[in-house]
Amino acid sequence: MKALIASGGRGTRLRPLTHTQNKHLLPIANKPILHYAIEAALEAGITEIGIVHNADSNEVPNAIGNGKDWGVDITYISQDAPLGLAHVVKISEKFINNDDFIFYLGDNMVVGGIKRFIDEFEKNDCNCFLTLAKVKDPERFGVPEIKNGRIVRVEEKPTKPKSPYAVAGIYIYDQCIFEAVNKINLSQRGELEISDAHQYLIEKGYKIGYSEITGWWKDTGKPSDLLEANRLVLDNIQEHLEGEVDKSSTVAGKVVLERGTKVVNSVVRGPVMIGKNCSIENSYIGPFTSIGDNTIIRDSEVEYSIVLQDCKILNVKIRIEGSILGNDVEIVEATGKPHVHRFMIGDQSRIEVAW
Ligand code: G1P
Repeated sequence: MKALIASGGRGTRLRPLTHTQNKHLLPIANKPILHYAIEAALEAGITEIGIVHNADSNEVPNAIGNGKDWGVDITYISQDAPLGLAHVVKISEKFINNDDFIFYLGDNMVVGGIKRFIDEFEKNDCNCFLTLAKVKDPERFGVPEIKNGRIVRVEEKPTKPKSPYAVAGIYIYDQCIFEAVNKINLSQRGELEISDAHQYLIEKGYKIGYSEITGWWKDTGKPSDLLEANRLVLDNIQEHLEGEVDKSSTVAGKVVLERGTKVVNSVVRGPVMIGKNCSIENSYIGPFTSIGDNTIIRDSEVEYSIVLQDCKILNVKIRIEGSILGNDVEIVEATGKPHVHRFMIGDQSRIEVAW
């Protein structure tokens, strides 16, 4: 069994963060999303991993490397154009080389691992195994129609979903999938849709197994998904305090404070993760917040937010909540006259002010 991980695409719904960073490298609980996919494969005993990335950028190979740190062997496969997930599978046939494989969308996160799905795929001699998750908005996803315990149809982003399930981005295949991805045609949006490949397999009578993801699953396609994934991962962290906390501070609940970080006269209420060499002074850091390395927060309050590295939040009078700050971002009190809001904001940013 091999693993194929998709890390391409443009991440348009996560702009402006994705103007400068591949969405699969954005951090959830201070760790790039893509690490979770690699670790899930490893945990299932898979050590041969292919990662498909955009041909015009080496960002993913540069950030992830050859897998040595995890004890896995990573092969990079570049995709010349964003022609869809079935295209990702199509260009990976040589790497898969007659093995069975798990196809994992690098922006999906699942709790409880993937080994149980592989076991079911093997036990039931499936050609294809899909994982399903109940969602509020199935029209955003591939949606199965289920009759008498069998998937009889899969539709991509249907206007009238036939079930409350999304097909999650964790699929297991044998060689039949290559027949499918080579036979289907481009969809209306000009892509080879993975749902069309599944529909092809259903129509040809191949054996499709499925299982519901009963823990949680998240497709981290939009900002609110990132915040939710961050909340869910932080909920399961182990307390670990390497940083310094002074006597006038309170650190409560599950909190990670990494090396070189100082908390002075502040309240940190977990679950919270704070990276290396940060300074938190006269501030409140509330539940479900992760803060990247070298960030300074002074006289401010932050809760349910993701703050990347090298940020400064200084003297902000109103609590920052439900926010995502990229690298090297500053939110500071305006001083001097006239007393105004002053913005220096990149393309496609969004600011909500309250006073
Ligand atoms: C893709 C697939 C869709 C699947 C989803 C899971 O959608 O096309 O079938 O349900 O991933 O994350 P996308 O995220 O590309 O819109």
